[in-house]
Amino acid sequence: MSTPLTRDAGIEVPLICGAMYPCSNPELVAAVSDAGGIGIVQPISLTYVYRHDFREGLRLIRRLTTRPFGMNALIERSSRRYHEKMVRWIEIALEEGVRFFVTSLGNPGWVCQRVHAAGGVVYHDVTERKWALKGRGAGVDGLIGVNSRAGGHPGPLSAEALLADVGDLGLPVVCAGGIGDPPGFAAALRMGYAGVQMGTRFIATEECGASPAYKQAILDADEADIVLSERITGVPVAVIDTPEIRRMGLEAGRLARWMLRGRRTKHWIRTWYGLKSVWQLKRASLDRSGRNEYWQAGKSVAAITSIEPAGEIVRRFRAAIG
Ligand SMILES: Cc1cc2nc3c(=O)[nH]c(=O)nc-3n(C[C@H](O)[C@H](O)[C@H](O)COP(=O)(O)O)c2cc1C
Repeated sequence: MSTPLTRDAGIEVPLICGAMYPCSNPELVAAVSDAGGIGIVQPISLTYVYRHDFREGLRLIRRLTTRPFGMNALIERSSRRYHEKMVRWIEIALEEGVRFFVTSLGNPGWVCQRVHAAGGVVYHDVTERKWALKGRGAGVDGLIGVNSRAGGHPGPLSAEALLADVGDLGLPVVCAGGIGDPPGFAAALRMGYAGVQMGTRFIATEECGASPAYKQAILDADEADIVLSERITGVPVAVIDTPEIRRMGLEAGRLARWMLRGRRTKHWIRTWYGLKSVWQLKRASLDRSGRNEYWQAGKSVAAITSIEPAGEIVRRFRAAIG
């Protein structure tokens, strides 16, 4: 099936395995790409969780598949050091042949300039029209519409409402959020989306490096078990409702709320949250004892009933669209 996404990314199935901190490991990215979709590298997951040198990690994926894979650039300017690191990661990715980039947060203008000069494309995560307009102004080639059922940071709108909100901007729109089975995939394409980005479904795979306890929690969870916590990054993150999440509480503390409202203090508190959560999420996703019940997932858990090879998922989804 040919869509603007398959043409832009050079792939056969309009299906993206979205970047996931801390769940994106090279084997997962490669398996999705090798089956005809496209896996997206999450740089901090690759280097900090899975301990690969960034370039070597990309080369490992390249040894596992000759097909295209992408890279996620979270471009919020939380610190100068992080920004410099991201600039370097993008350079390395381009040198290693990556030509498909997914930007999240921030202004993607500088990424577009650099990637377009190398002949690549940039798709930008958006949750509503104002961000889509900003992305279009910055020169992005496509949008990833992150809806209210997504894992990670969900948006405020349903898949239908989001497409109505951003579908007239002359850019392809990919549906991210809530899709866990082939009928959901086919329905999103019928709705007018150029493709689908899934995260949660790909955690419950043989290749994903997350712990068996985390994968089992995804199989066991239902839609009503997904709650939004502000305690992880300062803005709502979708997590599985567990005793540990309950103990932490779902809302940011009073000081944090106050800081999140200020222009300068917002950056400090986000950096603090970022450092803390990066460590906690890593520990929980790798902990084989299952004692750290601190697991991100979206509402697509309802449709996920087994741990499968990632390539098998891509093939099943492909069969559903003929
Ligand atoms: C555990 C987890 C971690 C995620 N981390 C990131 C990330 O680091 N960067 C990003 O752009 N999106 C991130 N996302 C969002 C996914 O790339 C994707 O858009 C989302 O999972 C789609 O919703 P679904 O989980 O319902 O399939 C994450 C999602 C999950 C479930």
